[in-house]
Amino acid sequence: MAESDPTLGGGMARCAGTSWNDLMAADSRPVPEILTQESYQYLGSEPIAAERYTSEAFAQAEREKMWPYVWQFAAREEDLPEPGDFIVYENAGRSYLISRQDDGSVRAMHNVCLHRGRKLRTEDGAADKFTCPFHGFTWHKDGSFDTMPCSWDFPHIQKDKMTLPEAEVGRWGGYIFLREERGGPSLEEFLAPIPEFFKRWRHEECTTVVWVAKEVPANWKVTAEAFMEAWHTVVTHPQLLPFTGDSNSAYWTWGDNVNVNLVPFGVMSPHVDGNGQPQQWIVDEFVKYNGRSGDNYEGGGDPFAVTVPDGMTAREALGAAMREGYTAQTGYDHSDATDAELLDALVYNVFPNFAPWGGFMPNIVYRWRPGTTPDTCLMEVRILARVKKGEPMPRSVPMHLLGPDQKWSDAPEIGVLGDVFNQDMDNLPYVQQGLHHSKTGQVNLGDYQEIRIRQFHQTLDKYLSGELGGAK
Ligand code: FES
Ligand SMILES: [Fe+2]
Repeated sequence: MAESDPTLGGGMARCAGTSWNDLMAADSRPVPEILTQESYQYLGSEPIAAERYTSEAFAQAEREKMWPYVWQFAAREEDLPEPGDFIVYENAGRSYLISRQDDGSVRAMHNVCLHRGRKLRTEDGAADKFTCPFHGFTWHKDGSFDTMPCSWDFPHIQKDKMTLPEAEVGRWGGYIFLREERGGPSLEEFLAPIPEFFKRWRHEECTTVVWVAKEVPANWKVTAEAFMEAWHTVVTHPQLLPFTGDSNSAYWTWGDNVNVNLVPFGVMSPHVDGNGQPQQWIVDEFVKYNGRSGDNYEGGGDPFAVTVPDGMTAREALGAAMREGYTAQTGYDHSDATDAELLDALVYNVFPNFAPWGGFMPNIVYRWRPGTTPDTCLMEVRILARVKKGEPMPRSVPMHLLGPDQKWSDAPEIGVLGDVFNQDMDNLPYVQQGLHHSKTGQVNLGDYQEIRIRQFHQTLDKYLSGELGGAK
C-alpha cells in the first residue's frame, strides 16, 4: 500500500514494506487467527487537549469518575500464595488490603481503620488479624471486626457494623483485579477478548521473576502511551532498528478496553538501509540487544545466538532456536508455537493501566499508577516466566523500587531492557514539561500507529461523561 495516498480514507494508509500479515503468512507454523484477524477501526483524527495530562482538576475527575468503576490489576496470585498473606495495594487515592483466605479465595478491603482512620498496614506481610497500630482496634483477615480495647467507651459501636468496606475481586490468568464500586461488566466481559486469546499462552502457569518499579516525572498517561506504539523506536531506540519492524507493526483495538501492538522482531526496520546485509546480520544485532535472554534462562548461553542456514530467514532461525530453548527450559512441547509467539512483542493493553505481553517466552507486564500530582506516576515492569512443568509455583520476587536518582539500568535483573527504558525516560519528563508549556494546548496523533492512544482517551471520556461507570 502506498505510504501517502490522498484517495485513502482516514486511517487506511500503511507504511510501505513488509506488513504484519505478510510476516504471519511466512511464519514457519500455521498462525492462529488471533494474530491474523485484523481489528482496526478508524476512530477520528481530532487533536486531544494537553491539559488532560497536566491538570489537577482532570486528575480529580479520573479519581472520582473512572478509577472506582474499572477493574484494576492489583496483584498476581503468586504475590500472596498462602492463607494469611496480604499485600497493600494503593492507587488513585485509595489503599486496600488484599488478603488470602483459608479457602484460597481473595478479599480486598479498604485499608483504613474505622476508629480514627489510621492505615491498618503500610507493608505487605502475613497475618490472620489486622490490629491497628494506633489504639488496637482489630479485624479478622476476612474484614470482619474482632475486638477493641476499652470497649466500655464505645457503647454506640455495633460490632457487626464494623466490617471493613470491601471491593469486588476478580481473578483471571494468575492476575487479581479489584473494582471499588460494585456493578458493571464482569471481569471476563471487561477483559474480552484477552481471556480467549491468552488461552494459548497460559499466564496462570507463570510466576513473577523480575519486578522493578520507578517513579517517573510524567503523567501516568504520558508514560503509558510511550509504550503503546513502536514507531518511536526509529528515533528513540535506533539500536533496535536492525531487527525490529517498527512501522510494520500492527495496531488493533477491540471495544472500549483492549488493544494490541504486534511488533515483529527478527526483521529489518524499513527505516534502516539494510540493503545487502545478510539475514545473519539481523540475528547478530538481535543477540546484542534483545531483552529476553540472560538470567531467565537456565544453563547459560544465549538461545538467540544462532547461525542462519542458507535459504532460511532470521525469523525462522530465531524461532527454531527459541522453540528448542523453550521446550528445554519449561518441559512443555510447543512444536506448534509460531515464530511470532516466540519472538515478537505482542503488547496488549487493558484499559486503563494494565499491559500484559502475549506469547510463550517470559512475558513483560506493565502497570502505571498516577502519583500524588498529575506530573508523576509509578511505572512497574514485571517479567513473568513459565514455571517448569510439574514444579511448584514459586512466590513472586519482591518489587525492586528504584530511587529517584536511579536509572532502570541500575536494576541488573531487567537486563538490556534497562537501556531501552532509560531512552524512554529521556523523553518523558520533557513531554510533561512541554505539555505544560504548550501554546496550542493540543496533541496530535497518527491515525494508525497511535490508534491505541486515541481509543484510550475515548474510553476515558466515556467514564468522565458517565456513559461508562456509574458517575453522574
Ligand atoms: S485509629 Fe485505629 S485504633 Fe485508633
Ligand atoms: Fe520505547
